[in-house]
Amino acid sequence: MKKILFAGAEAMPFAATGGLGDVLGSLPAALAAEPDTDVRVILPLYGQVSDQWRAKMKEEAVFTVNLSWRQLYCGIKSLKKDGVTYYFVDNEYYFKRDTLYGAFDDGERFAFYSMAVMEAMAQLDFYPDVLHAHDWQAALTVVYLAALYRQKPGYEGIRSVFTIHNIEYQGQYHFGILGDVFGLGFEEYERMDFGGCINLMKAAIVSADTVSTVSPRYAEEICTSEYGKGLDGILRDNRHKLCGILNGIDYSYYNPAKDTVIPVRYSWRTREQKPENKLALQSALGLPVGRDVPMLAIISRLVAHKGLDIIAEIAANLVGNNDVQLVVLGRGDESYETFFTELEHRFPDKVRALMRYDRDLAKEIYAAADIFLMPSKTEPCGLAQMICSRYGAIPVVRETGGLFDSIKGYWEDKGRILGNGFTFAGYSGNELLNCILSAVTLWRDAERRHKLIGKIMRTDFSWQQSARSYCEMYSKLNG
Ligand code: GLC
Repeated sequence: MKKILFAGAEAMPFAATGGLGDVLGSLPAALAAEPDTDVRVILPLYGQVSDQWRAKMKEEAVFTVNLSWRQLYCGIKSLKKDGVTYYFVDNEYYFKRDTLYGAFDDGERFAFYSMAVMEAMAQLDFYPDVLHAHDWQAALTVVYLAALYRQKPGYEGIRSVFTIHNIEYQGQYHFGILGDVFGLGFEEYERMDFGGCINLMKAAIVSADTVSTVSPRYAEEICTSEYGKGLDGILRDNRHKLCGILNGIDYSYYNPAKDTVIPVRYSWRTREQKPENKLALQSALGLPVGRDVPMLAIISRLVAHKGLDIIAEIAANLVGNNDVQLVVLGRGDESYETFFTELEHRFPDKVRALMRYDRDLAKEIYAAADIFLMPSKTEPCGLAQMICSRYGAIPVVRETGGLFDSIKGYWEDKGRILGNGFTFAGYSGNELLNCILSAVTLWRDAERRHKLIGKIMRTDFSWQQSARSYCEMYSKLNG
């Protein structure tokens, strides 16, 4: 039996703010379905975890975590879901906050979490074959394993994987807190140092046995200065242990044939029913109701690297000069929130700016939308292009990272439709606009639209294949 322990800062349905939460909420169950795998996940017990889940938790252990001079209370609770054991690290001082991240002491909070993960192994007598840590918040687990725990009984055989979900967020700190907050001695200077600062992601890259990222294309991209956010040199040096495995999506959570959140359910066979969802959303949002106007949608964190600047460049032209509707759901930089709110004021019959994070509303939009826009500047994997495909909205994406690996441009060969969306390469407003207009033109051709949407809805974005790739990666590690 292979024992895998996932360490990461969020997991659906307990607490999540983005794609990382989706992945840690669905990949473990897909792995647990593979033969001979015991998968467990350990995450902080945030104040946001609902009572419904707390009621199901079992008390596993209570102990003290020593972090530098601090002696900290640590409780471990657990529950089982879909064949996976979830552990929760309890410390209300660190985790009972209004938001998951963004606090002044995030470095200390996740250092505590990481040390708690390492200690929990002994407390629970669960020493995994593979410690699989995700993103900067869990980076210190891999570092602690290499720097402090490797020699301790029980820990000798543990191999480590560090997965980069987004290189934009690296966890950078001043060296002054190396000992005081991270509990590491000066002998770890070199491991932790990047350009005179502590860089947790860099430290995990050099410490882990394998480094993975969430698409093959992104694995190549981050080795270049254009995408590496400063870490490309380190990644090139560690290329021998770098790989890319494409994410999947949770096919039972995202299933238009069974989804109870959307007004009218449909599958690829009954896709003529899909527009009913558009009519319902138009009416709920107070937009003119009609089948013939294509609904374009954006569901995203509103930040520049998701392509928001080129969307902003062309949005007025797009909605002003074309018979389309645009629905935007998401939160992010204030400048983009203001931009879309003003766009709605300018085009009240065409635009709706829903500046919030709402998972149910997101599903209603996926089900209603005809065309989905995702022109990211960088995109490690991207999940929305897979979700919109599952709901039969045509993706318009830029050819980068996981978008490149998952969506191929529409092409027709002797009446046969190839590709599963519309793609463009150059990061410019013009290319984006042309690409959207090509998608709209195809959409207006009822016969081609029907064929393309059928193909899109049948593209396999489930976890199965990726779960196998992870299993192979784990097998190679333990020999
Ligand atoms: C991050 C990335 C996104 C990826 C997700 C899950 O949110 O930005 O591209 O899909 O992590 O790996």
